[in-house]
Amino acid sequence: MNVLTSALQDCIRQKEQQADGTENNPWRLKLHLMPPTGFLNDPNGLCYFQGLWHVFFQYAPFSPQGGLKCWGHYTSPDLLHWTYWGVPLLPDQPFDCHGEYSGSAIVREGVLHLFFSGNLFLEGNPPRAFSVIHVTSEDGFHFSSKKVVLSPEDYPKQCSCQIRDPKVWQDGNSYRMVIGAQTPHQTGALLFYHSQDLENWQFDRLLQPDIPFGYMWECPDVFSVVDSAYLSVSPQGVDAEPDRYANIFQSVWTPLVEPSAFRYTEWDKGFDFYAPQTFEAPDGRRILYGWMGMDALGGYTNPTTEWGWQHALTLPRVITEKDGTLCQFPVEELQQLRRDPCPIEPAGPLPLPLELSLNNPENLPFIMDLGPGLHFAFEPERQTMKLYFTDSSGFGRTERHTKAATCRCMQAWIDTSSVEIFANDGKEVFTTRFYPSSDSLKLTLHAGCSCQLTAWPLDHMTFEKKQILIQN
Ligand code: FRU
Repeated sequence: MNVLTSALQDCIRQKEQQADGTENNPWRLKLHLMPPTGFLNDPNGLCYFQGLWHVFFQYAPFSPQGGLKCWGHYTSPDLLHWTYWGVPLLPDQPFDCHGEYSGSAIVREGVLHLFFSGNLFLEGNPPRAFSVIHVTSEDGFHFSSKKVVLSPEDYPKQCSCQIRDPKVWQDGNSYRMVIGAQTPHQTGALLFYHSQDLENWQFDRLLQPDIPFGYMWECPDVFSVVDSAYLSVSPQGVDAEPDRYANIFQSVWTPLVEPSAFRYTEWDKGFDFYAPQTFEAPDGRRILYGWMGMDALGGYTNPTTEWGWQHALTLPRVITEKDGTLCQFPVEELQQLRRDPCPIEPAGPLPLPLELSLNNPENLPFIMDLGPGLHFAFEPERQTMKLYFTDSSGFGRTERHTKAATCRCMQAWIDTSSVEIFANDGKEVFTTRFYPSSDSLKLTLHAGCSCQLTAWPLDHMTFEKKQILIQN
């Protein structure tokens, strides 16, 4: 703890207290983790530790437009009742004073270890420097002082200064780390390290795709699903194609094979999804959270910025493999929020938040109106699924689509200002924010009579605030 730590901590506490009015914003979500005030981006440090789910997140408390990043911290015993604990990692050291950037968690012998990037902007060339920083915790709330385990001079020379977002995992008796990177030719790459003790890290290799795929790879993740290894990465600078890569930045997965055989699939086809991170639950499930947001894109203004906050995390999603594809589906814990199914009248208002389930056994075309201005359609003749806005509730958003020959089932979780759609058992996923003018949803299904729709109004998750102050 130094004078900068206490000054930042006090400023953030004051900012959060002044922001209590934020909670009156009708677009505050009922099922999603949000910043208490200011700006949220990537999920960080995801883990289950000593009986609690821990979700840390990139948090810029001073402005809804972003800015100085620290880590915010939520925990829950059940993924439904959440407590916000404040900011355990603050940019308060010479090697990280311009931001605590993204990173990950690993539990070893009853101790929680966090690894993350310390950001420094420099005046000159290179214009910035990143270190990998390590902290530990015996209880998940109080953290050791920071130790730099990789400093800017340690990285191989075949990289630019853009090196960040360590993800650590166990591999037999040792530990591995992957870090997002960039080559001097401005193409995305990865650095791999290994360690026996989580403190001393040895460089293994620089991985580059055979064909460049974007100018920078952020937030890499290496994980297994049923014994097969996968890589998830968030590349910046991939050109849009007619049926994919429509957002400004992408998040994709590929089987982790030789780079010449990488086959990228977008995690999510919607407007708002980036920088996902996965972790293993105690029962072996692979769970993913994503940032339900995206860097600013021309033509879109998130109206919640007027209420002093912006962005949220996605629902937690279980990752499974089906026919060579990674599928996502909200964790089954969320089913505990279901109330009795409600009758569906044409354009009948349904309360939010809401879970919808559509069965389409004959693979018929359909359009589902999610309120007056947001629609999800399946067009079998064009083999297309699309999510699109026809009014201003998208605040500048238009359409996102993907190729799909079938849509025999579809589930949607609709919160007060977000929609997550999981089609074909989570093979195709669309996530978007939307900003309806009412807290109920006028739902209409235009479809053949064999289509069956069920709707469950959902109880709210609970969010409470407590404070742990940094002591050390
Ligand atoms: C991804 C990202 C990361 C970085 C963090 C900073 O959204 O740019 O690469 O660590 O956000 O907030």
